[in-house]
Amino acid sequence: MTLGNVYREVFKLFKDKFPNSQLEAVLILSLGLDKPKEYILAHQELELSKEEIERIKELVDKRLSGIPYAYLKKEKEFFGINFFIEEGVLIPRPETETIVEIVLEEGPFIKGLDLFCGSGVIGLTILYKGTCQKLLGIDISSKSIEVATINAKRLELLERCRFLKADIKGLLLEESFDLIVANPPYLPASMWDSLDPEVRQEPKEALLGGEDGLIFYPEIARIISKNLVDGGLFAVEIGGKEQVNKVKEIFSSYNIKEIHIREDLAGLPRVIWGKKR
Ligand SMILES: C[S@@+](CC[C@H](N)C(=O)[O-])C[C@H]1O[C@@H](n2cnc3c(N)ncnc32)[C@H](O)[C@@H]1O
Repeated sequence: MTLGNVYREVFKLFKDKFPNSQLEAVLILSLGLDKPKEYILAHQELELSKEEIERIKELVDKRLSGIPYAYLKKEKEFFGINFFIEEGVLIPRPETETIVEIVLEEGPFIKGLDLFCGSGVIGLTILYKGTCQKLLGIDISSKSIEVATINAKRLELLERCRFLKADIKGLLLEESFDLIVANPPYLPASMWDSLDPEVRQEPKEALLGGEDGLIFYPEIARIISKNLVDGGLFAVEIGGKEQVNKVKEIFSSYNIKEIHIREDLAGLPRVIWGKKR
């Protein structure tokens, strides 16, 4: 069977399943054959071996069962950097790059804290760009700590960072930082059933922030109050319009005076940030 024929078969299977089924089909073939996307389009006459067809079929079945492409590829690009990702950790979202943009504008920093670090994308990107010298990342999930450590190794940043498996609820840190970033789980628990089935393949504890989605913001505000040095920067992701005023109120109640809001590319309020005064 030629690559062109396989492509058309996969496209037919994907047609009603994914909004951008052509691209999805090219991506799966490119993953199955371990070749760039351009190769797939340029070699339609190529005869595929039985093994290659089997490998593609396996990937197609997994993708059709709802497994996100990033989990199949075990990789996701964030801020132009390829990060290792696997099932059990959140797939980084483009809107989270907004935090990194603010940090790069406001830096440099000496010692950063990445709360709810997941795969490590926020903190490691900031280290990689040279905007911060040292980093502590914290997450409750062992899988996240494992994946963040793999990413630090891949980017040759291991010597400049530490990762700690801990529950941020009630966490007492005895260190000071001049940068605190956080992307907590912030979806209201009631939303789970209505989420896209593909999103529900990601860990629930990485997405849900209690009944109203806000349970982690008082914890973050408490840590900013205690552990951020005067003049230090905080940048924290929020879940859009419904949460912005409530999170502002929570931060004000912890005597955090300077509060700005940054919108993401879709024009939604995405990051609450400021300098500690
Ligand atoms: C929205 S994800 C953010 C991951 C990563 N920072 C990113 O932006 O892609 C939230 C992370 O919080 C972690 N988490 C959930 N509850 C936690 C808790 N109580 N203490 C520490 N981490 C927690 C999850 O394991 C998950 O990795």
